[in-house]
Amino acid sequence: MNRHLISAGDLSRDDALLILDTAEELARVSERSIKKLPTLRGRTVVNLFFEDSTRTRISFEAAAKRLSADVINFSAKGSSVSKGESLKDTALTLEAMGADAVVIRHSASGAPHRLANWVHGSVVNAGDGTHEHPTQALLDAFSMRRRLGGLDGRRVTVVGDVLHSRVARSNVLLLHTLGAQVTLVAPPTLLPVSVDTWPCEVSYDLDAVLPKSDVVMMLRVQKERMNAAFFPSEREYSRRYGLDRDRFARMPDDAIVMHPGPMNRGMEIAAEVADSARSTIVEQVANGVTIRMAVLYLLLGGEIAQ
Ligand code: CP
Repeated sequence: MNRHLISAGDLSRDDALLILDTAEELARVSERSIKKLPTLRGRTVVNLFFEDSTRTRISFEAAAKRLSADVINFSAKGSSVSKGESLKDTALTLEAMGADAVVIRHSASGAPHRLANWVHGSVVNAGDGTHEHPTQALLDAFSMRRRLGGLDGRRVTVVGDVLHSRVARSNVLLLHTLGAQVTLVAPPTLLPVSVDTWPCEVSYDLDAVLPKSDVVMMLRVQKERMNAAFFPSEREYSRRYGLDRDRFARMPDDAIVMHPGPMNRGMEIAAEVADSARSTIVEQVANGVTIRMAVLYLLLGGEIAQ
């Protein structure tokens, strides 16, 4: 494995399977009454969040603590970033405090890559702009594998705001590496220009793709990143691209529904679909801790105590 985890595309099939298998082993430890392992005792993990997060920030903190690492949580709000301090100076300040790994979320695509040139420890991308979110893709793959038993040949449909989604890009790259067939479904205005270079199919017709899907992953419509009108109205978007009860009924009986969160209930996904037994949305959050434990464990070279 590389020292850093910046892009899902950097992971070979063996790397990705090693992370998923390590997470499976760590999940067994997490089922014990005492969940904590001593593997990263004496190591320091810095969570550097320049953008809002609930799931990713909390799960990286929980993952590092379960492995007994010291954790420093840094949020740009209330820090010297608001006085104009640069990413580099912020990073060097945290490096001086002895960070072995820096987990970074930033609104600028490429920020984790820049950071990796400035610090000695491992850098983990926790979401950079509209670029990538590799640990989300890993936890999604882990969740699919646990429900479906394997990913080779599985048909995964990713629906919605692909243009602004770092989750979509990381999922396409990782799922392709793991042998799944990905189809992106979105209005043409919400697809990036470069999508024809991605290793996936593209469709504009959700109703045609749903009956052939093993997994339907709904994406959040990222209104906060939209500076123009990408669709006529929320009602129109929901009518054409939302997963409502009728569409859910047209999916194969054993197909699962995923969403990385946070959700716009009633827009891209109906509440009753999000809360159904075939939805993995809550499992994805729990699996996020396990996958992030595996990533930190592998990057920082701990050993699993039996
Ligand atoms: N899925 C995800 O990245 O959620 P948060 O923004 O809450 O971390």
